[in-house]
Order: sequence, then structure tokens, then C-alpha cells
Amino acid sequence: MSVGIEHIYAYAPQHALPLPALAEARGVPAEKLTQGLGVRAMAVPLPCEDVVTLAATAGARCLRAAGVDPRTIGMLVVATETGVDHSKPVSIFVHELLGIGPHCRTYEVKHACYGGTAALMTAADWVRANRTKARHALVIAADIARYALGSPGEPTQGAGAVAMLVGPEPRALFLSEESGVHASNVYDFWRPLDRREALVDGKYSIDCYLDALTGAFRAFRDLERPALEEGEGLVDRLARVLYHAPFPKMAAKAHRRLLEVDRGGTTDDLYAASYRDLVAPGLEAVSQVGNTYTASLYFCLASLLEDEGRALSGRRIGLFSYGSGCCAEFFTGVLPAGAATLGATGVRASLAGRRLIDVPTYEQLLHEGEQGGRAPADFTGDFVFAGIRDDRRIYGRAREALAA
Ligand code: HMG
Repeated sequence: MSVGIEHIYAYAPQHALPLPALAEARGVPAEKLTQGLGVRAMAVPLPCEDVVTLAATAGARCLRAAGVDPRTIGMLVVATETGVDHSKPVSIFVHELLGIGPHCRTYEVKHACYGGTAALMTAADWVRANRTKARHALVIAADIARYALGSPGEPTQGAGAVAMLVGPEPRALFLSEESGVHASNVYDFWRPLDRREALVDGKYSIDCYLDALTGAFRAFRDLERPALEEGEGLVDRLARVLYHAPFPKMAAKAHRRLLEVDRGGTTDDLYAASYRDLVAPGLEAVSQVGNTYTASLYFCLASLLEDEGRALSGRRIGLFSYGSGCCAEFFTGVLPAGAATLGATGVRASLAGRRLIDVPTYEQLLHEGEQGGRAPADFTGDFVFAGIRDDRRIYGRAREALAA
């Protein structure tokens, strides 16, 4: 049974800090961030936004774009590492805000940035197992990436959500049933329960990512059918390769490693041409939004579909998902003919409505955190986090909150 992503929709907070301004404030050359890391801006949430409002906004827009009644969703999984409660899942708040019916399996999953892929694969298996019922699953990956102010990780923050409707009639991506997985216990990036900002062994995390890519890609390559000819690279069969992108330069490092593993070596010229054609086109959006953890890979996918869905319909692409800690997965998918008519996936809309902020405003927003509050009159999200009353989180629709 063919299963895949029927529709995909991304959303990022409208406030963004340009990275050259952060570089100036921290006394580092702007080129270190814009070229060395490849980041140009990062999305910063308002106090009235949290991971629930980001996830619900992406989810509501995905269902509207797909023309699917929320009450028909049989499974809702939210992947995040920015949970709002040790017990109550983000998914149950989203379930209510989207008007999904009671006969729906719903839960939150976590494995650092890999959580979005864990949720997507689980949802695809669930659709395959329910073939006679033809029901839809909704997967939402949503996160707010936070590191300590002034730390090397600070320029790699970001925020956003991507919702994917998974079902038997994909218009966005047919998913391969085979994938290559790699897991091992490493302390590269983690966030103890009492901490708001992540801890990271930055340089080591890059090595862990590349080792996991090697393991997952080799496992996938061995499964490839028809088998590769002598001297043929798997990458020759792919029109694009998308990577988990904590910062765009990470995808560049990853692609060099992938070519080395695939071909037993590469040259600077071969690598540069392959990176330009297969990888760079999918990275523009993440260079403007920053790391969205679980959503990062799928932000790249949404962006690719919006920009090149028509040109790439019928073509096969590779996807690599990495979550610190770590678990990684390499898989492929084919853009269906319907990708040509998919239309907007929310990436351009998110970037078009942006308000650039200065460093003092960014630091103030970080200091306030997601404490709840009123939305500004030009707020672009669908839902707001009003605050905590009697130890309970209160959410509402943005328009109603503005009118109140
Ligand atoms: P750093 O120490 O600030 O930077 O940390 P650096 O000194 O390594 O420099 C970065 C790059 O800028 C280098 O390029 C420099 O050469 C270059 P490279 O050699 O790597 O190609 N550079 C310049 N370029 C142009 N002009 C200049 C200049 N100066 C230097 N003047 C680090 C960088 C990524 C370690 C840091 O930002 C960090 O800790 N980030 C967070 C961790 C992270 O993103 N790790 C990635 C892999 S793990 C992962 O992806 C999982 C994750 O998403 C979490 C999850 O799974 O949930 C993080």
C-alpha cells in the first residue's frame, strides 16, 4: 500500500533577529555566523506563543489546506523536545484547539530532533496497518530551540512547527518502506528536566551527527533495490537530499560525508557541484528561521515542495533525520504527480510576514519567555497562550483573544 504525506504546512513566529546584529552584540565577525554557520536570521517567539500555539497553528492550516475535517483524524502525534508539562502532552492541547474528535489516538513523542521522524514513521505504519479504514494521521513537529545567551549555540536558536497529514493518497511525498537507522547513547546535546536551555558539547555533536549519518546511510544503501552497479552512487538516483539542519553549514558537512561513504571518496569539485544541485536549494528557509529541532528536516521539505514541487514531481529525494542522544534515520520518498498542484506550504507566508527585531528586544523576549500574554494586533498565528491560572495552561483563538 502506498502511504505518505498527503499535505504539509509550516509555521514560524513572525519576529526574527538578523544574525549580523547578534554578531555585532557578541563581538564576533558577522561572516562567522552568516558564512561559517550559514544562518542569516532566527525566529523568536512572543510571550503569547509556545510550542502548543506553534503546533496548533501549523496543524490547523495543514488541515484547512488539505480540506480535511478534523473530526476524521484517527491519530494525532506531536513530536517535541519543548514539552510544557512532565505528564500532560502537548498533543492533547492541540487536539482540543483543532477540534479533533474523541475517537483519536493522541500522544507526544520525544527523542531530541529525531522525534518528528519517529512520529512520521509510526503514523505511516499505522496507516498501512489500517488499510481497510483509510483514515488519516496528523503528525506535528514543533520546537523552540534555546541555548544560553552568549554561548556558541546561541546563533543556532530558532522556533517553528511543521504539520504533516499522513494517509494513503500522498500529494506531497510517497514514503519508502525501507529506511536505514543508527542509534547509540552519546552525550552530545541534552536538557536536564530543570533547565530551560539545552546543554551541548558542540564540536562533539557534529562528530556524532556525521557518525550517525554514516551508519544510517550505509544501512539504507545495503537495502537499495535494484542493487547499485559497480561504481554507481545511490546519490545518482536522487534529485535532492534534505538533511536535519541545526544550521545550514551542518547540511554541507553532512553532504560531503555522504558522498565519501557513497563513492568511497570525493573531490572538492564533485562535492561543490553536488551540494549546489542537490542540497543548497532546500536550505534557504532554515537559514532564515534557525534550528526548529524536530521540525527542521520537514521545514526543508515544505520549502522544497513550495519552491520546486512542480519541477520535481515524479522524482525521488533522500532525507536524513538526526536526533542527539542519538538516533538517526535515512530514508527516501518520491514526489507524486500531485506535488505539482500542492500550492502553498506556509514557508513563504511565514517569511513574508516578518518583523525584524533588535538585540535588546530579543534579549527581553528571551528573558520573559513563554509566560503567556496578549497578542499584538498584527499577530500572524491562529492561537495564543493566555497564561497559567490555577496551575492550568489557558489557550484561545488569536482573533477572539484580540477582540476580547
Ligand atoms: P563555534 O565554536 O562558535 O564555531 O561553534 P566555530 O569556531 O567552530 O566556527 C564555526 C564555523 O565558522 C567554522 O567553519 C569556522 O571555520 C567558521 P567550519 O570549519 O566548521 O567549516 N568561521 C568563519 N567563517 C567565516 N568568517 C569568519 C569565521 N570565523 C569562523 N570570520 C557550533 C559552532 C556549531 C559548535 C555551535 O554553534 C554549537 O554548539 N551549536 C549547537 C549544537 C549543534 O547545532 N550541533 C549540530 C549537530 S547536533 C544536532 O544537529 C542536533 C541538534 O539539532 C539537537 C537535537 O537533536 O535536538 C543540535
